[in-house]
Amino acid sequence: MNPVPMVDLKAQLARIRPEIEEALGRVLASTAFVFGEDVRLLEREFADFCGAAHGCAVANGTDALQLALRAYGIGPGDEVVTVANTFIATGEAVLLVGAKPVFVDVDEATFTMDPGKVEAAITPRTRLILPVHLYGHPADMTAIGEVARRHGLPVLEDAAQAHGAEWRGRRAGSLGHAACFSFYPGKNLGAYGDAGMVTSSDADFVARVRQIANHGGGTNKYDNVVLGTNSRLDTLQAAVLRVKLRHLEAWNEERRARAQAYARALEGAPGIVLPREKEGARSAWHLYTVRLPRRDALQAHLQARGIASAVHYPRPIHLQPAMAPAGGKAGDLPVSERLSREVLCLPLYPELPLEDVARIAGAVRAFAG
Ligand SMILES: Cc1ncc(COP(=O)(O)O)c(C=O)c1O
Repeated sequence: MNPVPMVDLKAQLARIRPEIEEALGRVLASTAFVFGEDVRLLEREFADFCGAAHGCAVANGTDALQLALRAYGIGPGDEVVTVANTFIATGEAVLLVGAKPVFVDVDEATFTMDPGKVEAAITPRTRLILPVHLYGHPADMTAIGEVARRHGLPVLEDAAQAHGAEWRGRRAGSLGHAACFSFYPGKNLGAYGDAGMVTSSDADFVARVRQIANHGGGTNKYDNVVLGTNSRLDTLQAAVLRVKLRHLEAWNEERRARAQAYARALEGAPGIVLPREKEGARSAWHLYTVRLPRRDALQAHLQARGIASAVHYPRPIHLQPAMAPAGGKAGDLPVSERLSREVLCLPLYPELPLEDVARIAGAVRAFAG
């Protein structure tokens, strides 16, 4: 039996190789490796895809978060309400700008921020609410938005895993005041290296992100009016992303079809909780994540049959030593802590053969008994 990987970027490349080679060749011929035309076009096209007015391409998703936080003027003494059931970058960005992440628990059905927990976490120091659309499933942006409005706070989406996800008919990237994306290679829209973007319909805000991402520049090249950094996206990555963006909707549909195939094949498997879309949500199905108490045993069972799986994430970030300044301790977030012991992501990518979905589901069922 062929081994099944978590993602297969070679299979994806095989589908688009001529388009990629044409795009890369064009950039090479232009030698406009930084600030080339493809960067501006990608910003336009991806913002349009999200339904946002503006986009600023940056070096990676972690920078997107950090730059957005800086563009809000968030720093020492400020608090950001966010979740711990996420990749470390969400909390890291908050600490890196000198602010404090205040973690709230998640809703176990969607793995995303529990809107009912947000209000109690807000203090006079709170500056921002930062939900994460984990595994491609959008957070409940209506309920979170209502709390935010009551307190006059902006909402920044961590949409790193949610390219094309929808909440009530609108896409991630246009659901809050602004949104941060990662284009890490394995994402639904992935570069051939690191890349990221901030989207927003607030032109001044995106202009501030752009300024900070390019050494705090002014109108003239050697005006440095605010303290910035270098977080530009290079043109080769932008050219790759523009090719892939043309396929994103179709690829997300292929992910959906595989998620549905898993759901049909695993329905009723004893002791296994399947991921479902909440009413109003359309997941981008970045990951297909099941839950079960004997997670590690299932992972070993699959591995013995040549089937990859992954634990996203084995430790909620409030318990990571690197997050110690945020002051989290075991027991603070019971749902996030339990999920970290129970979640297992099965292979899910557009090129995954449906026969492999059936084989993986069969192996999971055999384990479940
Ligand atoms: C939820 C989340 N936030 C932020 C990031 C950071 O993105 P990057 O790896 O591009 O820095 C990631 C990437 O893995 C992510 O999954």
